[in-house]
Amino acid sequence: MYRFGKTFITSLIVLAVFTLAAIGHADDAGPADTDLSIWPKVKSPYGLDPEIENRITKIISKMSVREKVGQIIQAEIKSISPNDIKKYHIGSVLNGGGSWPTGEANGPKLGWLAMADIFYDASMDTSDGKQGIPILWGTDAVHGHNNVVGATLFPHNIGLGAMHNPELMRDIGAVTAREVAATGIPWTFAPTVAVARDDRWGRTYESYSENPELVADYAREMVIGLQGHPALEDAFRVDKIIATAKHFIGDGGTEKGDDQGDTVLSEQILKDIHAPGHIMALGAGVQTVMATFNSWNGVKTHGNKYLLTDVLKERMGFDGLVVGDWNGHEQIPGCSVSNCAQVVNAGVDLVMVPNNWKDFYSSTLRHVRKGRISEERLNDAVRRVLRVKLRAGLFEKGQPSKQPLAGRFDLIGHAEHRAIARQAVRESLVLLKNDGVLPIKPNQHILLAGEGADNIVMQAGGWSVRWQGRENKDSDFPGATSIFSGINEYASQSGGKVTLSQDGKYEDKPDIAIVVFGEEPYAEFEGDLEQSIDYKDKQALSILTSMKQAGIPTVAVFLSGRPLWVEPEMNAADAFVAAWFPGTEGNGIADVLLSDQTGNIRHNFNGKLSFTWPGSPEQHPINVGDKDYNPAFPYGFGLQYPISEGQ
Ligand code: BGC
Ligand code: BGC
Repeated sequence: MYRFGKTFITSLIVLAVFTLAAIGHADDAGPADTDLSIWPKVKSPYGLDPEIENRITKIISKMSVREKVGQIIQAEIKSISPNDIKKYHIGSVLNGGGSWPTGEANGPKLGWLAMADIFYDASMDTSDGKQGIPILWGTDAVHGHNNVVGATLFPHNIGLGAMHNPELMRDIGAVTAREVAATGIPWTFAPTVAVARDDRWGRTYESYSENPELVADYAREMVIGLQGHPALEDAFRVDKIIATAKHFIGDGGTEKGDDQGDTVLSEQILKDIHAPGHIMALGAGVQTVMATFNSWNGVKTHGNKYLLTDVLKERMGFDGLVVGDWNGHEQIPGCSVSNCAQVVNAGVDLVMVPNNWKDFYSSTLRHVRKGRISEERLNDAVRRVLRVKLRAGLFEKGQPSKQPLAGRFDLIGHAEHRAIARQAVRESLVLLKNDGVLPIKPNQHILLAGEGADNIVMQAGGWSVRWQGRENKDSDFPGATSIFSGINEYASQSGGKVTLSQDGKYEDKPDIAIVVFGEEPYAEFEGDLEQSIDYKDKQALSILTSMKQAGIPTVAVFLSGRPLWVEPEMNAADAFVAAWFPGTEGNGIADVLLSDQTGNIRHNFNGKLSFTWPGSPEQHPINVGDKDYNPAFPYGFGLQYPISEGQ
């Protein structure tokens, strides 16, 4: 018995040592030969403020382990009550794509503010003798305040990239921040700084460009527009909100463009291609970074201590908070949605556990008590959450409804905001072909055909009122203009006539036809393409072909979240415009397509491709700089109207 026991114990010890070594190895993550020195040291314009740090130390010293664990958890607004927030001292909430406080898209706007107040009050309740810590609400305002009915929706990022206008991004960030602030929310999960390299990825449209440099320039301006900047003395002013650089890192680099897939790259290439947007965002002082769903060389990033802690926090000096993505931790081997010490140990400071937060809370508490999450690590996570809250002024700003912009619902979809979005639409249009039919004189008979002609749902795409966007109706976008209505308005006041005919049938033969078509809305994985990147719906092609047979010149306007192979449509049309997902201000398209009555252009085309346009359905991935680069249209391509004298 004794002998057996001894061997048994010895083997247990051996096993334990091996297990510990294995755990230690997994925790330190990082494939064998990583090289921290290739990552830059980044200086944030905020820097540690001793006063804030002392305040944090004081707050933490009075927090129980339970309060600390609550502070590093983020729940979804539908799955948590004010009482829960009070009882568990929950640090943060989010509303997911298509989640609204009243449970319905068209509920009263006051619902946003009311919920923000109720949650805030619950977080500040000290009746149990504990400290009040303001709750932090995050939302996906990724192209304007897109979960809110009536908000100004900008073109999705791919269209903004085509503008090649970083300065305008600052205005777009500022407008977005104002609309978000009006609903009492202090934080957006934007900008997405993904560099999409395989356009089969369903999130390609959330990427500004396949070119890391352009993404970097945009990231900087967007962060400054949203948060403000110390040097401009508007950092976290009443009209500013906290930004997020997402998703760290490599989201746009997965094999086959597989959403949440594996990014198989050397560390150097990971850094060169996928880090520049993050680095610039950090340099602009972004306060939060969202961990990515994807793996890097087979290791899920939510569990990758090397990337989240060694690279991001230690080497690049990020002192804000790392937020997890929607249950991203459940994909770490050994974890479940409600139980995962690894995610905290790897460096996520605020874990997004939308629905199972309560079980996650209990298991995390156990991990801390058993030492599987060290108190030091827990304190660091809490410190980071508090630091962001303090820097953003949450402790001082008070109840959401008391803040200067709160309840200013006139700001949501404000005319000045729409004007900026309309400018963005104009500048995002890329002219790929023009056999002399553009610009169109408004004083003629113009036919508007195709599924997208009068269709704000298609213009808006995913992440618009609802998550995937497909279940939307045009009535969910009050104040928006469709492409047809923009063209109709200008042409009718200029002595022209516009006929809307989705299927292209007509009684009076038009002088010219504009055919608007493209991709139906989608978001995240539902938008992934398995194989080829050709545009498969042939309805528009048949309209274009029958117009040609009738001798009617045609302009194709293509709505899409990525370049797709459209050679048949391109050949059938006399002009071809890539219009991406332009958002609510469809009249920006009339501004460019229609000249004045005498034929003078009003706005020239300005957009240049920020993504390579493929030359065949199988040409993927294809990116500028590839060897054997043979696209239909290269990166940077975009025609213009010839500038005639006097213009
Ligand atoms: C997306 C994030 C988003 C989060 C919250 C996730 O599925 O990947 O980009 O911020 O959901 O809605
Ligand atoms: C999205 C959320 C969305 C949810 C719906 C998530 O992946 O990020 O924003 O509300 O799925 O189940």
